[in-house]
Amino acid sequence: MMKLSNLQTKLKRSEQYLPAEDTFFLADIIEKESGNMALDIGCGSGYLTNILKNSFNLVVGTDISYNTLRVQNYKVENVVCCNSADALQLKFDLIICNLPYLATDEIIDVATDGGKDGLELPIEIISSALSHISNNGKFLFVTSSLSNYTELINFVESKNYSAKIISKKKLFYEELIIVKVENLLS
Ligand SMILES: C[S@@+](CC[C@H](N)C(=O)[O-])C[C@H]1O[C@@H](n2cnc3c(N)ncnc32)[C@H](O)[C@@H]1O
Repeated sequence: MMKLSNLQTKLKRSEQYLPAEDTFFLADIIEKESGNMALDIGCGSGYLTNILKNSFNLVVGTDISYNTLRVQNYKVENVVCCNSADALQLKFDLIICNLPYLATDEIIDVATDGGKDGLELPIEIISSALSHISNNGKFLFVTSSLSNYTELINFVESKNYSAKIISKKKLFYEELIIVKVENLLS
């Protein structure tokens, strides 16, 4: 993970990620989900968090960028500025994350850049998310053919969770991928 001082400099310049193809792709999937508690990691503008509010009793959004949370276009009541789910002591029926997945030598924009092979930030985020999935809960994340998504799936499985690709969408320059993670015994 990058040095804390570097991260703080990047975050000062970070800007809200506005809903895009990857956001809408995940939106189509989560519209079919319902339950008690849901968490949107890296909630950005709050677009997806607001969809979850229609079918979950308690919805929380987190984002590492305070700038983003301050100016959200789709305001969310329960937002926490933290890394992934680190500040939360709760377990969730559904966790979602539209990951910053681009493979980049350096992390310049935390909204899009995943670091080497598009794995560094995603692994950090996923590690934290796993321990917040309730027994019968699930975690859905968006990744892409532009990152080494097979490695991400292997990483999740190495932590004793199941990980399956449930949807793919071809765009002009990449293929978007949604992975579903569950506890092995659920
Ligand atoms: C691709 S954007 C997705 C935004 C929004 N969820 C959407 O789908 O439009 C990724 C978001 O993750 C946030 N982010 C990046 N690293 C994070 C981390 N370690 N913990 C929490 N949020 C993070 C970024 O600030 C950004 O808002």
